[in-house]
Amino acid sequence: MDFKGRDVVSIRDFSKEEINHILKTAETMVRIAEGKGKSKLLEGKILANLFFEPSTRTRLSFESAMHRLGGKVLGFSSSAGTSLSKGEMLSDTIRMASSYSDIVVVRNPFEGSARFCTRFSDRPVINAGDGAGQHPTQTLLDLFTIKSEFKEIDGLSVALMGDLKYGRTVHSLAYALALFGAKLHFVAPPELQMPNEILSDCKNLGVEPVLHNSVNDVIPEVDVLYVTRIQKERIPDEKEYQKVANSYRITTDLLKSAKENMRVMHPLPRISEIEPSVDSTPHALYFKQAFNGLPVRMALLTLVLGVE
Ligand code: CP
Repeated sequence: MDFKGRDVVSIRDFSKEEINHILKTAETMVRIAEGKGKSKLLEGKILANLFFEPSTRTRLSFESAMHRLGGKVLGFSSSAGTSLSKGEMLSDTIRMASSYSDIVVVRNPFEGSARFCTRFSDRPVINAGDGAGQHPTQTLLDLFTIKSEFKEIDGLSVALMGDLKYGRTVHSLAYALALFGAKLHFVAPPELQMPNEILSDCKNLGVEPVLHNSVNDVIPEVDVLYVTRIQKERIPDEKEYQKVANSYRITTDLLKSAKENMRVMHPLPRISEIEPSVDSTPHALYFKQAFNGLPVRMALLTLVLGVE
């Protein structure tokens, strides 16, 4: 299996075997990610971390991944302060950043922008989220988290809930869960249901997702409830947003009808869709999930940079 020099734009760029290899490599990174071991695997390597859109977890965990493995990071957390604000083209920014580094991580609000960047970068490009498109490294850490909890994904019952229309994490994850044979439920207000294209992808992989309006329909039967926030910044009309704002909330009361080992996941940030009192229940997996971004991104960086 050869990952060296490859772009990571979509989870569709990887076979099931390749995904499993990344997850296995991530297991070997956990101790170092926890600060219990030292590594110089990426000594001499530079990551360009280019965030044109806000981020806490993705940006900082890529940065931490490089530091934990002895590498260095340059980059920015918004286009303010870069020459983009003077009107420079994205293609020129990417050309320059790739010439100063060994690997480029990019988050941009426009769907398709990561694929566009690969055309102008001399170095591998990792998509850290392109608008409502894809977020492949989030999917890898989600799969890693589910496997760590349940061992197998095949046959698990998973509900993806919330803003399934504009939420990129659920677009990548639905495809990957179907690839691994999970049973899928999509829970959303009708205005925010999963796009037809993703439904077709699941069906082509032999999985027929069940659509629901209310989380009450699925709580007793699912193994994983994957909650997402409403992507206010991507909803074009304030009135459309107001119709769905605060339309769902996971509470400790609601979880009383869940299976004992049911786990609640969320890519974060959360706004109001999970009550803070859920955090101290055994169902809450979202902070562990966010930590898992570190070993998974460490694994991906070593594989793509060819220093496995
Ligand atoms: N899950 C995720 O992408 O979080 P950030 O937006 O904080 O990076």
